[in-house]
Amino acid sequence: MNRLSLSVLSIIAICLGLVSTSLADPQQDLAAYQQYFKKKFPTLSPVDLSNGMYNFNDDKRAQWESIMEFPPYEIAVDKGEALFNKPFKNGKTYASCFEKGGIGIAHTYPRFDTKRGKVVTLAASLNECRKAGGEEPLTYLKGDMAAILAYMAHTSRGKPISVKVPNNKAALAAYKDGKRIYFTRRGPRAFACYHCHWEAAGQKIRGNELSPAVGQVSHFPSYRSKWGGMGTIQRRYKGCMKNIGAKPLKEQTEAMNNLEYFHTFLSNGIPMNAPGTRF
Ligand code: HEC
Repeated sequence: MNRLSLSVLSIIAICLGLVSTSLADPQQDLAAYQQYFKKKFPTLSPVDLSNGMYNFNDDKRAQWESIMEFPPYEIAVDKGEALFNKPFKNGKTYASCFEKGGIGIAHTYPRFDTKRGKVVTLAASLNECRKAGGEEPLTYLKGDMAAILAYMAHTSRGKPISVKVPNNKAALAAYKDGKRIYFTRRGPRAFACYHCHWEAAGQKIRGNELSPAVGQVSHFPSYRSKWGGMGTIQRRYKGCMKNIGAKPLKEQTEAMNNLEYFHTFLSNGIPMNAPGTRF
């Protein structure tokens, strides 16, 4: 082979390498991150991981299991189903806005909408659907919204979470922004999500065992005793931001949605187990 064709070959090889690494970033992250937790908690299966803090405290585990005999989220699932099927002013229902009539799709959200160039959460899609049906939007963190999300998540139970990051610049940028937010220190003590749910996962902080980042989204929305009701994942994010003395990001903003996108992607492959119950 002459010199020229060798260098042409190596240029092609370099280009291919660059393309594949830049496009494969999220997949490589995912493998490395999930491997990190597998190594940290070798006895916990991916399904165990989604039981969060109850992996690390037998008393709390027993208490939680007894609550789960009559799961407090069941009322919300029934209410959510009724709301889901209630016709809008224009006669249509939520089913008209989603593929498969919205059944068994919750585990594929949030999605990156390439046409609009942004992350779209399931909650936002529900409100868009309401708007198209001539209805007022629902508030995002609890109440009817959490109930409808609980019902939809219930129809995805057992399906592996599968959030996609399409191969385009805007989607990768949204993913990277969510990742940046996850690792950003905030509040007076400069805590990032990462410090508690990654580095210190399994350890105790002010009486609470810290759940690992991977698996956290699988049971949201959740019923929380502290809330006395249901809440969405973004309600939980806001709670953690408040607890560390930081100004919480506003729900359904680009930043919050990118955070949800990255954070949900981390749990890809883990079976959906929502809605859940937490203290
Ligand atoms: C100072 C430590 C700390 C920081 C920083 C922190 N959290 Fe938490 N978080 C907790 C504690 C304590 C709990 C309750 C115990 C548990 O489930 O881990 C919790 C619970 C959660 C849960 C619910 C888990 C479940 O299984 O129900 C989610 C989701 C969550 N945090 C996400 C975040 C995100 C996203 C950030 C960054 C914006 C963050 N947390 C920052 C301490 C922290």
